[in-house]
Amino acid sequence: MKICMIGTGYVGLVSGTCFAELGNHVICADINKKKIKKLNESIIPIYEPGLDELVKRNFKQGRLKFSSDIPSSIKYCDIIFICVGTPINKKTNNANLKYIFNVTHAIKNNLNKYKVIVNKSTVPVTTGDKIEKILNIKKNKNKFDVISNPEFLREGEAIRDFMYPDRVVVGTIAKKPNNIMKNLYLPLIKKKNRYFLTTRRAAELIKYASNAFLATKITYINEIANLCEKSNIDVKDIAIGMGLDERIGDRFLRAGPGYGGSCFPKDTRALVATANKFKVNLSIVKSVIKSNHSRYKLLVSRINKIMSNNLKNKKISFLGVTFKAGTDDMRETPALNIVKSLIKKGAIINYYDPSGKKDIFKSNKIKYFNNIKDACYKSDLLIIHTEWNEFKQLNFKKYVKKKNFKIFDMRNLYSPNKMNRSGVNYFGIGR
Ligand code: NAD
Ligand code: UGA
Repeated sequence: MKICMIGTGYVGLVSGTCFAELGNHVICADINKKKIKKLNESIIPIYEPGLDELVKRNFKQGRLKFSSDIPSSIKYCDIIFICVGTPINKKTNNANLKYIFNVTHAIKNNLNKYKVIVNKSTVPVTTGDKIEKILNIKKNKNKFDVISNPEFLREGEAIRDFMYPDRVVVGTIAKKPNNIMKNLYLPLIKKKNRYFLTTRRAAELIKYASNAFLATKITYINEIANLCEKSNIDVKDIAIGMGLDERIGDRFLRAGPGYGGSCFPKDTRALVATANKFKVNLSIVKSVIKSNHSRYKLLVSRINKIMSNNLKNKKISFLGVTFKAGTDDMRETPALNIVKSLIKKGAIINYYDPSGKKDIFKSNKIKYFNNIKDACYKSDLLIIHTEWNEFKQLNFKKYVKKKNFKIFDMRNLYSPNKMNRSGVNYFGIGR
């Protein structure tokens, strides 16, 4: 199969590389010429464990190519995946579909033979209908099917998620593209047989409904954690006790600083906006958005309390600032609002993150260190913000070298009993 991924970001690059690994010929195309130039020099533009090696191997073996020539890439291939961004329009909260429709027009002008047009980007219900309408001109008759195939990979786990999917969702009522997709995904689905065929609109909604549900699960446990803090209960016990019920499940019940990233925040808002268009009130998702958005305020007031309401000139060290481990992505990370508020209250911030320095922090009150030891030295408070593996077994006293320092573990990586026994002032979330 000759496959073209249009949009070589997280989704296009990871899924394109994985399709190549499965033996297909793949062109990852992008209008960003710099990105394509780098990829042709084997420089990977994103931090994703395992991706570097996979890209280099498939590139070397000639199965994976990178191009900024979108028309030729479309003409050459049989399956065209649309993998461009669908960012939120900050004023309306609607998904901005201009990149999707730019690609659609490029496809419209280059349909030289039958192709399956697969939308992999996260898009509101009816976007597939609109793509089809644009493509449906006389000269393109019988030359295409537009289908939906949402992507469920997570940053930091992207390759494993793609290669071992819980499910592959395909939205189409036409036989031909379904057969082509089934064949394409066969190596991934034959073990578990989790290929779910549905309508195009349903596939589009499954993606948003899944992300919003996971965001709800996280927000729910975060609010239960607030209650645990007041009632002297460990939220970890609650998550285990709940999760043992298979109807609930134990995943995505880790209390923390709130969900961030490039997807949950934008997709929950876009889902509400879509529902509004259909005059449906998604009150649960609305309150999830509100609760998660204001979570940083709760955390800042907890930090204030931990520091006895005195943050002026206090040195606070962040271990991890990305929205989760395994990524360099800073989009909507809870750290941004927390750091801003602490600086306003007079604190001085040091940070270390395994994925490197972040340009997004502009204040001269925040300083990056390239190792844990220097970032923590003589700190008044350590905040474990992101659950990177290298933060899981630290001897904090050795690093901080200051009496009475405190730790606020926003990911509950350590045992409060062990910490207190070793004489460290330790605070977690919901415990
Ligand atoms: P991204 O911003 O990392 O990449 C998008 C790429 O598309 C960019 O490189 C951009 O230059 C390119 N592009 C834009 N217009 C183009 C055009 N006309 N022709 C060719 N290339 C063009 O985005 P992403 O994170 O890969 O997300 C893509 C979509 O997949 C979004 O809808 C997102 O919600 C969804 N998604 C993302 C993830 C994730 O983990 N990031 C997971 C599942 C689904
Ligand atoms: C999420 C979904 O998990 C993917 O299935 C989906 O494809 C993707 O969005 C998308 O649509 O782009 P991702 O944003 O990469 O993936 O990261 P997650 O692992 O889902 O974490 C999201 C946020 O929730 C992070 O801030 C994380 O720290 C937080 N989280 C997650 C918790 O606070 N507790 C948990 O138990 C799990």
